[in-house]
Amino acid sequence: MSRKTLIVANWKMHLNVHEASLLVHRLSERIKVHRSIEIVLAPSMLSLQPLSQEIDRRKFRLSAQDAYFQDEGPYTGEVSFTMLRDLVHYSIIGHSARRVYFNESLELIRDKVQAAVRNGIVPILCVGETKEERLAGETKQIIHDQVTTALSNLTAEDIEQVVIAYEPIWAISTFEGEVAKPDDMKKAMKYIRFQIAELYGQHVADKVRLLYGGSVNEHDARAYLEIEGCDGVLVGAASLNYHQFSAIVASAERMNSERRNPSRND
Ligand code: 13P
Repeated sequence: MSRKTLIVANWKMHLNVHEASLLVHRLSERIKVHRSIEIVLAPSMLSLQPLSQEIDRRKFRLSAQDAYFQDEGPYTGEVSFTMLRDLVHYSIIGHSARRVYFNESLELIRDKVQAAVRNGIVPILCVGETKEERLAGETKQIIHDQVTTALSNLTAEDIEQVVIAYEPIWAISTFEGEVAKPDDMKKAMKYIRFQIAELYGQHVADKVRLLYGGSVNEHDARAYLEIEGCDGVLVGAASLNYHQFSAIVASAERMNSERRNPSRND
């Protein structure tokens, strides 16, 4: 089952429009057109419009970091997926920052996932447990609830397109501290795919792309990408540095090329 490698840059609340444009320019100089890798940039809402006119579409696609589930109405301060539909291919939904700082519930995230799909935008659904939940042995239950609720209003056909990022909250932005071990990650990813297979069939589960996110950098990206069932990475801090992010893309490309031509590397 071949799923295209996906590398997503989540710039979070960093970079103004000018800085974002400069970073795209720098990345464009360093990153080639890769047929086996899809590179997605998620800048702030403000930068989406200008970047949509600047990016080389053979190299990059755009993602929102979030949006509101209603298509329009008196929701001061919000932007809808309907407004984004011609600008972005993807939207991150349910990032732990949204769940933790903005108290987003499982049901709100479900409605956002449904709204993205309704507007032709592919959700990058983030799931993952806190440190306390992990220590209490609740990881599977948390992932189960987050995945099943978020997808519950979609058809099996819709779900084939969805991207799910496993981002354990305890491993986000902890470069010097705790990071997810490949074994933790493998177990969690296997469980997510198993859940989808149970609910929607193996055929659907085989199509869904699963990413890992949490302190990924240019040194360890490949170790994550090599894990069975992992289709890509969701990168925060390291995606703000063009040397680091382009090195992550290069290591994914090297891995894919070695897989395509194993004999050349004997
Ligand atoms: P860091 O790579 O900074 O840990 O961020 C991960 C993340 O939250 C991506 O969405």
